[in-house]
Amino acid sequence: MSPAERVTELRSLLEHHNRLYYVEAHPEIPDAEYDKLFRELEELEDQHPELDDSNSPTRRVGGAPLEGFEQVQHPVPMLSIDDIFSEEEVAEFYRRLQKNLGLESIPVTIEPKIDGVAASLVYRNGSLDYGATRGDGMTGDDITANLRTIPTLPLTLPGSAPTLLEVRGEVFMPGEAFARLNEEREEKGLATFANPRNATAGTLKQLDSRAVARRPLAFIAHGLGVIEGLELSGEEAFRALLATCSIPCNEPLWTADELDGLLSAIHELDQKRHQLPYATDGAVIKVASFPDRLALGTTSRAPRWAVAFKYPPEQKPTQLLDITVQVGRSGILTPVAELEPVALSGTTVSRATLHNESFIHERDIRIGDTVLTHKSGEIIPEVLKVITEKRPPDATPFSMHEHLEGKCPACDAFIARRENTEGKERPVVTWWCQNPLCPKQAVAALTHFSQRKALDLEGLGESVAVKLVESGLVGSPLDLFSLEIGELANLLLDPARLQTGESSKPRRFGEKKAQLLVESIKTAPTVQPLSRWIFAIGIPQIGESASKELSRLHETLPEIASSSLLRTVCRIADLEDERKEISPQNRDNPPASQSEKEERRKRHATLKLEIAETQSGIAEFEISPDIGAVASRNLLTFFESEHGRIFMQRFQQLGLSPRSDNFSPRPAEAAASGMMPLTGKTFVITGTLSRARNDYKALIEQTGGKVTGSISKSTNYLLAGEGGGSKRDKAATLGIPVITEDELQSMLQ
Ligand code: IVH
Repeated sequence: MSPAERVTELRSLLEHHNRLYYVEAHPEIPDAEYDKLFRELEELEDQHPELDDSNSPTRRVGGAPLEGFEQVQHPVPMLSIDDIFSEEEVAEFYRRLQKNLGLESIPVTIEPKIDGVAASLVYRNGSLDYGATRGDGMTGDDITANLRTIPTLPLTLPGSAPTLLEVRGEVFMPGEAFARLNEEREEKGLATFANPRNATAGTLKQLDSRAVARRPLAFIAHGLGVIEGLELSGEEAFRALLATCSIPCNEPLWTADELDGLLSAIHELDQKRHQLPYATDGAVIKVASFPDRLALGTTSRAPRWAVAFKYPPEQKPTQLLDITVQVGRSGILTPVAELEPVALSGTTVSRATLHNESFIHERDIRIGDTVLTHKSGEIIPEVLKVITEKRPPDATPFSMHEHLEGKCPACDAFIARRENTEGKERPVVTWWCQNPLCPKQAVAALTHFSQRKALDLEGLGESVAVKLVESGLVGSPLDLFSLEIGELANLLLDPARLQTGESSKPRRFGEKKAQLLVESIKTAPTVQPLSRWIFAIGIPQIGESASKELSRLHETLPEIASSSLLRTVCRIADLEDERKEISPQNRDNPPASQSEKEERRKRHATLKLEIAETQSGIAEFEISPDIGAVASRNLLTFFESEHGRIFMQRFQQLGLSPRSDNFSPRPAEAAASGMMPLTGKTFVITGTLSRARNDYKALIEQTGGKVTGSISKSTNYLLAGEGGGSKRDKAATLGIPVITEDELQSMLQ
């Protein structure tokens, strides 16, 4: 089989397994097998740049950051939709349809309104051409690279697909993924997103698609933009086409051909909507037939053939009975509202996170208050505000330090206060338990260590972790490696709940489960790659992708512990901090005299050089933003701490030596070979060329250059074929030289 044939085969295999895993939740091959195929494709693509394809599954992990989004004009405007709020308005809408179409019965469909971010996807000849945001409805941002990272979104369509297909839909962050993202951010002391839609919008705005790939986004289609090469009669035919193309389609769907049926569909959806993977606050009602839609037409802002019925928002008052405090894995202390139970968006809510002390103080929340609650993004219970008129005279303000008498609720160690000002108007105050041996932290650390994404230890969930810590068998994750089957088999677990509502006697963990667990502990050092071990340690800011990046750059854990790369990243950040601080323009610290100003100006310039020099020393490693200054510092702090040193010592005593399975630090081999005439030059490619754009892109990149999607001040050349009008204009305005294919060839000589 030729490399080209194998590449095609691998791409369709990987997309097939991707679909089985993400869309159908029925994987047929283990993750390791998928990773192997993926790496084979990556290697072939590296060796054969001529086979490059922007819709290769390897592009799903994101690419080099863009300097800005290009603008794209929508083939037909992306309209808004009129909102209605009462059944009377639904009846009016239906009557209007009857009148305008001159018919008694009009088939309509009813489906959830997805609270996400609108996107348009254009497929040409069965391949994703581009994807864009709604923008102002006429033009939007080209966010193709970001959309490609969405695993459920097909990059190619089957042969039967129409030659041109524009599908519209919503990008969203599924509820559970959103909750996890916010939990992680809270653990790190970062500001949380208010709801899944904000998290989605914030993610899609990122210019670095590798950062987008790390966020769990999903896409669901709900409409048709333009289509060529196929005629569709209505909603049903459109949905059949989506199914053929494996494009996720909005469910559930009701159809009705009279008003009563329409109203009952709206009620039925209200019952179901809280179970959907996305937030929804409404039902979209659409005329089913496409010719009827055409006949009804649109106003300048919205179609006449659709409306959105909005359910009343669910916000309810309830009493704040108490504030309790939870201890997280890294020791962060999170205040939790204990509420008088209240029915909210489909469930009974009795607890809600209060995030941190600043959240409580900014809203002046006091124990005993009546508070207004809702579910943020229909998912996360949240306290919105205090209903001050209902404040009882004995409502008590909350202070974490007083409440806990200065001590961790789990281990009595002293607690410490931290202020985080990064990227925020006001500092966020968090409290932490600083005892690494705190039992609550130990349980959380153990659960983290053994979870599926980490070492995937058989049968070690939270309840078993609690018992292991309580019984004294395990104090920290590495104690697992000295566990014996006998002691584990005898571990007493909590009684099971019986169907009668009573509880059974305490149970033992049992011989069989003990054997399985010990076996998976024993094999972990060889079975699980280094990246999972790093993630398992649970160092703040070191999530799955940071761990993968670390294992790309290092082969073993001791190498990371003494990494000069990480030290350099920290050193650059320190120099940058110093440069900001001593800048003669620093308003918070202005120079006191002319001579000081001069002195600082000199130092400022020296620092600039030093930073550039230090940066160029590690540029060849192309370290991803996952390993920034904060992550690097956290890593070094961990390995230099007493806790970290003990960890490494035991790690080595136990003979554990997991190795990286993606180690490729990319030393500058190519540069060393001297064939890099385009080093440091940035190109944009436009117009019709004699070879595929991707060929030129590969050529430029192989010879040291960079190719970006849009022209900016840092572009050095525009490589232009015939056409390419708007980019030519922009290049002319910015004074950027436009070169032909021949001129590029001579630059390469
Ligand atoms: S159909 C405008 N169906 O809501 C043409 N739109 O507020 C008809 N939306 O721009 C749109 N869920 O981005 C339709 N099930 C759904 C939807 C939906 C969310 C968005 C869509 C539209 C916006 C208007």
